[in-house]
Amino acid sequence: MTFLKNVWYVAANAYELDAGQPNDGVVSRKICNEQIAMFRNSDGSIAAIHDRCPHRFVPLSMGKREGDSLRCGYHGLRFDGTGACVEAPHDDDSQKARACIKGYSAVERDKLIWIWMGEASEANPDLIPSFSFFSDTDTYTSCQGYSHIKGNYQLISDNLLDLSHIHYLHPGIHEGSNFEDFTNKVQRDGDTVWSMLWRHHYHIDAAKRPMFGLDGDAEDVEGQGHARWDAPGVLFVDTAFWDHGKSYGEGWNTPNAHLITPETETTSHYFWGSGRNFARDNEQFTLGTAATMKNVFETQDGPMVEAQQRDMGESTDFLDHKPIILKADAAGVLARRIMQQKIRAEQTGLQEAAE
Ligand code: FES
Ligand SMILES: [Fe+2]
Repeated sequence: MTFLKNVWYVAANAYELDAGQPNDGVVSRKICNEQIAMFRNSDGSIAAIHDRCPHRFVPLSMGKREGDSLRCGYHGLRFDGTGACVEAPHDDDSQKARACIKGYSAVERDKLIWIWMGEASEANPDLIPSFSFFSDTDTYTSCQGYSHIKGNYQLISDNLLDLSHIHYLHPGIHEGSNFEDFTNKVQRDGDTVWSMLWRHHYHIDAAKRPMFGLDGDAEDVEGQGHARWDAPGVLFVDTAFWDHGKSYGEGWNTPNAHLITPETETTSHYFWGSGRNFARDNEQFTLGTAATMKNVFETQDGPMVEAQQRDMGESTDFLDHKPIILKADAAGVLARRIMQQKIRAEQTGLQEAAE
């Protein structure tokens, strides 16, 4: 399987690179089959380099962080955040130039670390989809986390773009509401897919209203769960509910991030997070939300996607297996088609450049 190169992938939750984190804030993670070591430089910029010493091929992340560089733990070659060898302790300086390793463009935005796996000259941070709710700390309290899933990244996008699974795979989540009361519309905006979901009637226990900062006792409210997908598997789901007669912004709002990055063809990194505009100072609520998200992805969605992957074996193109396509698959199929077009265009461009 070919991965899309010229696109921003989420490589880490920003807090993983903080001082005091394990391994001195050096994160080693495989992305699209490339092992990458990341750390935050003293000026706040993000270093991302191939996590492989060119001398004996051991991970540099097993070595030691020295300021804005990593020293190999085996024979001491030292590399800066661009991948340049800046010290070869047992050799003359001529070895340094030969020892450099691949560096990647990486930036920190909205509490996430984004990495560009393709041509560095084409890495434009303006192309990073917005997850501003993470950084808008005046409006939202948020939590973030990570789960590892043994399935192809596109299977997870399919899962997130078809929320008809909620009533069956997560029966407790929307208890009391009917899927028939929801309307879904899929639309394409450039290379972005929107799967708009309106919940015309949604059940909430009156007893839970105070938890959402709402007065009154109505148990029938309305809401939305609009999902925005961008390549390769970057999803923003803007969930909100409000009382009938009111509108978006006049109730409670829980924007969510589901950020899927391929580790290999058949395994994925799932970075997730959620914000809320109510119960802002309730630390227990934040911890509870993170625990619930982790539990749902790791014990409900994750096992389902992993079972799918097991059935497919090493194969990664789900559509090759001729599944039956249901109405609710529209957004997932569209996202897959866009990915296919983008990968094909990139491959054709590479081929032409080589000729
Ligand atoms: S293996 Fe890294 S310096 Fe020898
Ligand atoms: Fe789910």
